Amino acid sequence: MANPSLRPAPRPEATGWSTLHRHHIGVDVGGTLIKYAAVDMADGELTTPVLRRPTPVPATPEAVAEQLALLVEELSEGPGAPHPESSVGVTLPAIIRRGVAHSAANIDDAWIGLDARRFLAERLGRTVQVLNDADAAGLAEVRYGAGRGNAGTVLIITLGTGIGSALFVDGKLVPNLELGHLELGGVDAEVRASALAREREGLDWPDYADRLQQYFAHLEFLFSPDLIVVGGGISVRHEEFLPRLRLDTRVVPAELRNEAGIIGAARHAYLAVPPPVA
Ligand code: BGC
Repeated sequence: MANPSLRPAPRPEATGWSTLHRHHIGVDVGGTLIKYAAVDMADGELTTPVLRRPTPVPATPEAVAEQLALLVEELSEGPGAPHPESSVGVTLPAIIRRGVAHSAANIDDAWIGLDARRFLAERLGRTVQVLNDADAAGLAEVRYGAGRGNAGTVLIITLGTGIGSALFVDGKLVPNLELGHLELGGVDAEVRASALAREREGLDWPDYADRLQQYFAHLEFLFSPDLIVVGGGISVRHEEFLPRLRLDTRVVPAELRNEAGIIGAARHAYLAVPPPVA
């Protein structure tokens, strides 16, 4: 399904853009860790190391914003620092509609109903864009990772504490899919087939692959995807479970691993910036 028209390059980012337009800060807010870096959108490469700090407990908007302000300051000081006005992309494990959170998984419920985009922009004094964590991972994989150059229907599924999902049709994101909450065996799929479920139930790889087989077969039936990209921390062990799956769809491991959320967050911020007038 390779489609050269979806390959990176046509935007002018690789050539004359200033660092203000090319470099953005990506922040991936997870249930336990906040990971962040500056990213060059020309090639998706990080211009700083990936830095980490613990997610505050409880992860209220106030407490997370405080950490974000500190980390933006931290990034601005080191080598590879982004432009002082560069915008910030932030992932949350939440449904995000036009900047407003409509759910909260592993973060405080106080996010629900909050205009997170506006709230964080005010706290950071920068332009901020907010999106769902799996949507961010998908944006990164489709542009720079395992999904690049693929037209048609591409599903990115992240296996972690929950199950995240992102759907792309000819390279365009259909946001907020929430396929981790499809029913599987009478409960949410993520209760039975997330990486956390494997650990919690002490499942061996064949048993875990059975769960994934049921889940992916259901996704295949519903969406007829051309490609499924499997991400999340557990994807480093993909050889243990992906070869056991029997599906018509090609299933590949994510390539960007821990950096996908950061890169996708930065890309989301970048895509919101109007291109400079030539
Ligand atoms: C949440 C999603 C999130 C996923 C991965 C699910 O429980 O409902 O919004 O993308 O976990 O963090």
